Amino acid sequence: MVDNFDIPDSVLQKIGTARHVAVLTGAGISAESGVPTFREAQTGLWAKYDPQELATPEAFQRNPRLVWEWYAWRRELVNKAAPNAGHQALVALAKLVPQFTLITQNVDGLHQRAGSQNVICLHGNIMETKCFALGHRITDWPESDELPPRCPECGSLLRPNVVWFGENLPADALETAVHAARSCDVFLSIGTSALVHPAASLPLLAIENSAFLIEINPQPTPLSRWADVTLSGAAGEILPLLLARLQK
Ligand code: APR
Repeated sequence: MVDNFDIPDSVLQKIGTARHVAVLTGAGISAESGVPTFREAQTGLWAKYDPQELATPEAFQRNPRLVWEWYAWRRELVNKAAPNAGHQALVALAKLVPQFTLITQNVDGLHQRAGSQNVICLHGNIMETKCFALGHRITDWPESDELPPRCPECGSLLRPNVVWFGENLPADALETAVHAARSCDVFLSIGTSALVHPAASLPLLAIENSAFLIEINPQPTPLSRWADVTLSGAAGEILPLLLARLQK
């Protein structure tokens, strides 16, 4: 699809001379890995549920077992997926620039599995578990018939370490992301619909501070009109091409 795709010289020049490149990714970067988005995961047994009714603290309080099982199912889908050429190109890009910050809205952990370091996970990680009452991060718990299992530290129910609707983003992750957006000279927004705040504000903060904004997405988004350059296509195709041009 992008065989003859030309990466504009301005993109190569800006990234080539940048001191700090910040990247924000969304579900689109994992699309080519076959990770279903939130809504796409609503198939089979789960089709009758509204995801917004499974991904809130109230839903968990109402029916913790249902929510736990839905996440177990989504974890299984993520486990079957593998990082793609887009995730891998970002691992290589990090090594080409003096400072690199990778911020993701994805909970699938594919950036980390590809080898990216210090990934800022704004919406948590579906593979991690914490307790509902006090947020203890738990990696092991005793076998029990009860679902969800209970926190070995405080006895409250365990839940996935993801940000649900109506919950705040992890403050430290958000603070690091805001700082990166304000201090970078190039910002790449990749595979995100740029609709869900506060993540969607990060590219705007970057341009307020005179960063060069590049968007990679096959579809236009509300951010497109602010982007210096939009590379219209799939991240798994454009990012390797961009990398190859930068390495020339
Ligand atoms: N490469 C790049 N972008 C792609 C690709 C691809 N191969 N395929 C799809 N896209 C784009 C779509 O055009 C869309 O703009 O990825 C974007 C995905 O948008 P969303 O599904 O809204 O995902 P995201 O922006 O990550 O959503 C933000 O909302 O659903 C909640 O908490 C969830 O973290 C998520 C947040």
